[in-house]
Amino acid sequence: MQEITKEIIVKDKAAYLPVFNRYQIVLDHGEGAYVWDVEGKKYLDFLGGIAVNVLGHNYPPLAEAVAEQAHKLIHCSNLYHTRQQAEAAEKLARLSGLEDARVFFGNSGAEANEGAIKLARKYAHQQSPDKSQIITAWMSFHGRTLATLTATGQPHYQEGVGPLPAGFDYVHYNDIQELESMMSEKTCAVLLETIQGEGGVYTPQGDYLKQVRALCDKYGALLILDEIQAGIGRSGCFFAYDKYGIKPDIVTLAKGLAGGVPIGAFIARGEVAKAMQPGDHGTTFGGNPLACAAANVVLDLVPQPSFLEQVTIVGDYFREQLVALQQKYPDLIAEVRGTGLILGAELSKDAIGGEIVNECLERGVIINCTVGKVLRFVPPLIIVEDQVDEMLEVLSQVLSKYA
Ligand SMILES: Cc1ncc(COP(=O)(O)O)c(C=O)c1O
Repeated sequence: MQEITKEIIVKDKAAYLPVFNRYQIVLDHGEGAYVWDVEGKKYLDFLGGIAVNVLGHNYPPLAEAVAEQAHKLIHCSNLYHTRQQAEAAEKLARLSGLEDARVFFGNSGAEANEGAIKLARKYAHQQSPDKSQIITAWMSFHGRTLATLTATGQPHYQEGVGPLPAGFDYVHYNDIQELESMMSEKTCAVLLETIQGEGGVYTPQGDYLKQVRALCDKYGALLILDEIQAGIGRSGCFFAYDKYGIKPDIVTLAKGLAGGVPIGAFIARGEVAKAMQPGDHGTTFGGNPLACAAANVVLDLVPQPSFLEQVTIVGDYFREQLVALQQKYPDLIAEVRGTGLILGAELSKDAIGGEIVNECLERGVIINCTVGKVLRFVPPLIIVEDQVDEMLEVLSQVLSKYA
């Protein structure tokens, strides 16, 4: 490790709250699907800031839009209209396909989900103050604020910070019977990730989401889909729910929406959105012109059929190659899951995931391991087959040590 890396890590450790187990490298700049550290070492990035850098790094139209907007107006209060926000909202409302859709911008995924939960509660309270139950899934991830970590069906995120907001229940994702057994007229909303990311990359099986939609309609509950990780083209559809043939009442987005500039959004169909009136919700920074200028670049490019088609083509290729890797190392890879460019390889052995990620990093490849044993791949959406091969070649070399 060079002096420059040491110096920055020491400074960071002395000042930054130690909530992340960080890798011992300091990133400096990027280009396309590659990033470089301060020592000049190059890495192929198959994490993309955890599903954020959808257009890759240093994408000229995005960098230029941000720079141009920074010279004009970085921020103004949401008490005023801006062209950038109006355009971004209009595009999202149209793309969502939700009837008379309304969009609210925040700064992160957690904020988007907080807003969605709050809107659902407000809407349901109009019918009855008892209609407050929110059902979410085990192994879900919805954020780190109090309501969203309560919505997150992984108890370890909730330890030591109680009392937690009331009214949340959990079911197993893909188990429709269990969901039905939990629902009643008191169910306010069902909140699910269209594709579970953080929990280990699980896609909805068969008609699961259609059946969830039907149960929500039966009990007058809202369906909130969290597409913070799976949305923005990652599944090969701009909204992953379009892949599964349903529409939610509310959808949440963040991560890739502005290609790396902080933003979050919830989009609700008009009748639901009416439950929020002036003064009911707000934000200082959310949807400011800088973030929306970036979002507009993403929203002009990613929904294009040719872009989404390419995500599907590369994603299918990637998945096939992962299955081939599984066949090569049947004792190491238990299952390959996912779709488009949200893919996971579940390892058969616990505790080697972290080592595999570290060894790939040493060899210049950034991947991620979630829930301790699922290698998760959420690369920039602009990756090409050769880069998939490049990453898998390194991963295969690393796996061979454990076979
Ligand atoms: C599905 C999902 N929802 C919500 C969040 C929270 O987003 P943020 O970290 O921007 O608050 C994440 C982050 O990983 C996520 O993957």
